[in-house]
Amino acid sequence: MAGKVYLETFGCQMNELDSELVTGQLRALGYRFTPDAHQADVVLYNTCSVREHAEQKVWSRLGELAIRKATDPGLVVGVLGCMAEREGGALMKRMPVVDLMVGPAELDKLPALLDNALRTRASLLADGRVLGEAGEGGVRRLTSAGQVALAGSSSRRSSTLAAAGDQLEMLDLSRAVSPDDHSGSAYVRITRGCNKFCTYCVVPHTRGAEVHRPPEHIVDECKRLADAGVVEVTLLGQTVNHYRFEHGAQVSVGGVVQPQKGRVYKRTDEHTDAYAGQNVTTFAGLLRRIHEEVPGILRLRFVTSYPRSFGNDVLEVIRASPRVCRYLHVPAQSGSDRLLSMMNRGYSVGEYLEFLDRARAFLHEPELGRPLTVAGDIIVGFPSETEADHEATKALLLRTRYKNCFIFKYSSRPGTVAHEKLADDVPEDVKRRRNGELLEVQNRVSAEVSAEYLGREVTAFVQGVSRREQKKTKRAESLAKAVAVNGAGIGAVALTISASARGDVRARAAEVAGDGADACSVHGAHTEADAGVSAGPVQMSARTDGDLIVLFDAHAGDAAGMIGQIVRVRIESTTALALHGAMAGQG
Ligand code: 5AD
Ligand code: SF4
Repeated sequence: MAGKVYLETFGCQMNELDSELVTGQLRALGYRFTPDAHQADVVLYNTCSVREHAEQKVWSRLGELAIRKATDPGLVVGVLGCMAEREGGALMKRMPVVDLMVGPAELDKLPALLDNALRTRASLLADGRVLGEAGEGGVRRLTSAGQVALAGSSSRRSSTLAAAGDQLEMLDLSRAVSPDDHSGSAYVRITRGCNKFCTYCVVPHTRGAEVHRPPEHIVDECKRLADAGVVEVTLLGQTVNHYRFEHGAQVSVGGVVQPQKGRVYKRTDEHTDAYAGQNVTTFAGLLRRIHEEVPGILRLRFVTSYPRSFGNDVLEVIRASPRVCRYLHVPAQSGSDRLLSMMNRGYSVGEYLEFLDRARAFLHEPELGRPLTVAGDIIVGFPSETEADHEATKALLLRTRYKNCFIFKYSSRPGTVAHEKLADDVPEDVKRRRNGELLEVQNRVSAEVSAEYLGREVTAFVQGVSRREQKKTKRAESLAKAVAVNGAGIGAVALTISASARGDVRARAAEVAGDGADACSVHGAHTEADAGVSAGPVQMSARTDGDLIVLFDAHAGDAAGMIGQIVRVRIESTTALALHGAMAGQG
């Protein structure tokens, strides 16, 4: 029983990938997707619990849906991902508008739950039990009969995250890859879950313990993506450099090789090279295999790296593999040893810097046009953070010279060690001030890193039209709507659009910049790039292989065809956020 689905994704790249897989799975069953929540019979939110702010967005969206459902009782609402896992039954109690919930380790069960929810809903509607009753102020509410009928069979959280995670391999394996489904770039999961238990972090509690996918599955997925025209693959894991698959110990269930539990790295395991020559695929081995066996992938990237146990073997593979990007996202989290220890990160500032120096010694070759760029994450306002700790973090930013750094205000998450044991005692205004100061320092560094590219030619992967261009299109569209609502003629609307939106490329394909962890996007509804509506230049957004944003102008008629391609751009000016230039040719 298919319906029209709206799926919105909150949070990280792992969620982006989960949403893509869920979309493929539902599409194969006949569900259609819409980018407009108001047109949907089914609204799904794939949620993030890393910070409270991300959860609040979902609560407020659910509040809006509750109002809508009062007059549209056929609507089915689902919460997927980390909030479903973390909140459990409490979520449905607080928000009775929610019909189904699926944790990140049970996403393969979504089709069955959704089908069940739609059937139950249909039969309740048919026999009149979900007609609603007048509530306060004349707002209709669902009768409790509807909710009770749905409860019980409508929620899949994992009681044992580990077991559920193993079954999840089927979801990744079922990935449908078609040339129409991508804009040249794709994520491939190598590891699920996390074993690190940083004291502030909810991820090990919501995604479960680390498991590594069999290398054959990963290589095969990369091949299928390349065959479908994907040129850029980003390997995903919470700590990718800890990837490790032991072939002698592999287990098959029903002919399918199962993912393997990760090990807990000790401080002595500084280098993953320890496994060289054993019957083990390490992260270095995996990178090498993909690079060798899938030449169609012109850019191979990976996130996120953990600062400990990052072996020279990985650095050597990157150096020897021209299609592996020289880009590391390797969060430090703090510049204070005292706080790093309270965070249970397992390294000191000195060890972190030693790693960065080692990585740069191997990989930073700007004179050969192959610089290493590094991005980081910092948490500001962790419990007990003093001005001295804060100054140490500022000093770290000056020393690390990240091309960019995501700076997050500490958010106390229930269930974590920090929440249970440490008072969230840095006042909000102090967090805000320190956050601003760190951003200021990082902006200066980012501007300097960008300036090093002035006058150089870079190769860049085109992701779509720039945000500025998207905003222009949006403005033009809402203007058109406003004029239409006010009864003006269609001719007038068209004129206003072309005058105000120079080169109105209606390309909201491939959402562009920003792997910021709070980003959200709408999935499954491909808005086709339909360039050439008018003739002016269109600003395009691309990324260097070091993940720097490159903005350049293209002819409107060429814009759509460029998405997913690699081009050469000569850099003419730079800011902290982006390199600006002119196209010099195809990559
Ligand atoms: N508060 C603030 N930031 C957090 N992160 C993880 N947990 C928290 C939290 N409780 C940040 C870390 C991590 C990134 C994905 O999110 O910096 O690297
Ligand atoms: Fe969270 Fe730490 Fe694991 Fe990253 S490494 S997901 S911050 S527990």
